[in-house]
Amino acid sequence: MVEVRAERASGHPEGITVRAPAKINLHLGVGAPREDGFHPLMTVYHAVDLYDAVTVTPAEDWSVGVVADGPIDVTGVPLGDTNIAVRAGRALAAHHGLDRAARIEIRKGIPVAGGMAGGSADAAAALVALDRLWGLASDDATLFGLAADLGSDVPFALVGRNALGTGRGEEVEQLPGVESPRWWVVVPAAGDGLSTPAVYRRFDELIPDAPPQPRAPHRLVEFLEDPDPDVAPLLHNDLQPAALDLRPDLAALLEAGEAAGALRGLVSGSGPTCVFLCADESGALEVSRSLRASYDVVLVASGPVTGALGR
Ligand code: C5P
Repeated sequence: MVEVRAERASGHPEGITVRAPAKINLHLGVGAPREDGFHPLMTVYHAVDLYDAVTVTPAEDWSVGVVADGPIDVTGVPLGDTNIAVRAGRALAAHHGLDRAARIEIRKGIPVAGGMAGGSADAAAALVALDRLWGLASDDATLFGLAADLGSDVPFALVGRNALGTGRGEEVEQLPGVESPRWWVVVPAAGDGLSTPAVYRRFDELIPDAPPQPRAPHRLVEFLEDPDPDVAPLLHNDLQPAALDLRPDLAALLEAGEAAGALRGLVSGSGPTCVFLCADESGALEVSRSLRASYDVVLVASGPVTGALGR
């Protein structure tokens, strides 16, 4: 399956489009904060086929435009220099000593501020697209170094599929489960976003004695090649109590999804998006039908899929 389109974008004769996937965390173990304030993580990332597509075209100055691909609310996405795709572009140009800029257009299919790393996907896709537009052929060490500086989840958005994330999440190691079998998830839009730092702060308040070493994903990795209903109890998110504390309404959503037949409902990353793991496509469609009675926007996705690098 080809997940990267490095083609000339329609309407942009000189444009390059690269897309990057959303992530969910099948396991998210969080340790006590380090001296730099970040939390050590042991996480199992899984990329699903909800994508942001980033199109870059040559321009005199940096600018960014954002449109929704489907029922995504894009009002919270910054349009100025603080947009992470622009920061990625500036960092790439600076690394190579170039005085260049670009127009960046983002078509968002990943829920915004939802714990699915949509901003990280934009950064990863912008790095790959601009690297091609400018003919830089940056090596992996450069791309992954820039990605890690941009955000803890950005290196994973470059590789996708299944990966073990350590450090603050930025050190990624590919795990099995590269092609099929596929995992199916149902993703209801969870309303107002949660800020990642706020969720980590609440984690520190709720668990002041968190161990320095985050919890490891033990048996989960064995299931990546062979999803099975028995995997459900192995899914885990240490940030879930903090996210539920900030958004108590999510508890009812988690119950509703499981009552509708999902193997397991889990807050994704720092939330507020909840993901429901289902046994197969028909199970996922049934859960999504049931949740649509109460939630306006319910997405169905499957994985694993490749990241922005497309390999
Ligand atoms: O790396 P990223 O920019 O995604 O992190 C956003 C914020 O989330 C950080 O400033 C920090 O407050 C928190 N964070 C953390 N530990 C991590 C990842 C993120 O405390 N491992």
